Amino acid sequence: MDIYKYKDYEDMSKAAAAFVIREIIKKPNLILGLATGTTPIGLYKYLIKAYDDYIISFKEVKTFNLDEYVGLPRSHPESYYSFMHRYLFDHIDILPKNINIPSNDPENMERLATEYNAKMFGNQRDLQILGIGQNGHIGFNEPGSRMGNMTFIVKLDEQTRLDNSRFFKSIDEVPKYAITMGIKNIMFSKQILLVASGKNKAEAIYKMAYGDVSDDVPASVLQLHPHVTVMVDEEAASLLNMTGNHLTF
Ligand code: GLP
Repeated sequence: MDIYKYKDYEDMSKAAAAFVIREIIKKPNLILGLATGTTPIGLYKYLIKAYDDYIISFKEVKTFNLDEYVGLPRSHPESYYSFMHRYLFDHIDILPKNINIPSNDPENMERLATEYNAKMFGNQRDLQILGIGQNGHIGFNEPGSRMGNMTFIVKLDEQTRLDNSRFFKSIDEVPKYAITMGIKNIMFSKQILLVASGKNKAEAIYKMAYGDVSDDVPASVLQLHPHVTVMVDEEAASLLNMTGNHLTF
């Protein structure tokens, strides 16, 4: 695992975008795993800039999103479908047929999860972008989720619903369930880039890097992946014992 520390959110976002841009330049038909949450918004902003500046094109890029709320219509502004269009897809030349976001029709969840798995097995991701929850979740793999899980339906943690209630009128409107790639799907990506910003992520980052690998902190499993890059700002790195700006282990 390589951890890089940046002065602030903006610097971290630029560096994370540069990382993704290099991968797209190396492989224009990159299979890219995408994350939602506020953290990757800056990264997406700089990807859009690189597209506007004719540095990269997304014409051949294929994407797979990590997760989606169950029961929110795709047209809801807080669905991850809407989020991804608002912050990335509507501003680049990606082909709609190359966009994959888990479907969230509550009637057919088990079948939809199986179909999403099958599609991912035929399309191994070259790079998976991740954020991290305050409780150490990745995607929506909440503490206690089994590491062998593939795409599944998860009951959201109260902490996660509380964290995400800032996007809704009240916590009662936050969905109770989500569909998410499992840890096994995440680990199946050839490379992983995790971004985190702010003091409220410092403990999760510390446990991810130094804690025991355990279901209690799902992100800790990344210690076992051969090719993980973590980009954090100073606040998120504040509990790591970093003398310089780079840690590798
Ligand atoms: C959400 C998403 C995660 C994301 C996390 C952190 O619940 N399912 O993929 O990493 O929360 O979000 P934020 O970046 O807004 O802190």
